Amino acid sequence: MDRSQALSKLFSVLIIFTISIFYGLHDDLAWAHKKIESGAVSSSSNRGPFSLVDHTGRAVTNEDFLGQFMLVYFGYTHCPDVCPIDLRVMIAAIKILGGDGKKIQPIFITVDPERDTVDVMASYVTRLHPRLLGLTGTPDQVAAAAQVYHIRRMKFFPLVNEDDRQNEVNANNAHYVVDHTAAIILVGPDGSGLSGFPHGITPEAIAADIKRFINQ
Ligand code: NI
Repeated sequence: MDRSQALSKLFSVLIIFTISIFYGLHDDLAWAHKKIESGAVSSSSNRGPFSLVDHTGRAVTNEDFLGQFMLVYFGYTHCPDVCPIDLRVMIAAIKILGGDGKKIQPIFITVDPERDTVDVMASYVTRLHPRLLGLTGTPDQVAAAAQVYHIRRMKFFPLVNEDDRQNEVNANNAHYVVDHTAAIILVGPDGSGLSGFPHGITPEAIAADIKRFINQ
């Protein structure tokens, strides 16, 4: 595959990521499994600076993760359905990889920094996997990180009835949901995105894809 083919493949993945938010597909993602072949790694997409805080309170940047593979998932701890499922699939894929799984750093980045404080993230991620790293930060820090990974998110306040309509603009209403791009992203040692795995994929398929890159 030449460079222009690789880039056009990459752009098709990004377009699908973008379309998903407009159709509100968080709960019903029907994406094809779009993979970027290893030849596309030279693309600058998904590379970029971010600065966040991990669930132990330590400041981290993208540079701290260079040299290792990452599985990155953006979501939030209040997510009722999709996030917990996707995180369990991500962790199951790492288990399937056995010894190679130790080469992968699983990362959960919140799209809801207002509620997902360091302490909230800590109690959430430690229940899922001992090596799962939870990242949060200021709203600006999280927005920047989401942009690096092309993650769209939108907060909205469910309306119970007409009288609740004013709640829509009530900033103090804590009972909101965050619609967000749901994809597990494989990031290579140089910080480039290698694959995007859609909601609904099996852990076996993720593990098989990761093996292609790890055993190169
Ligand atoms: Ni979610």
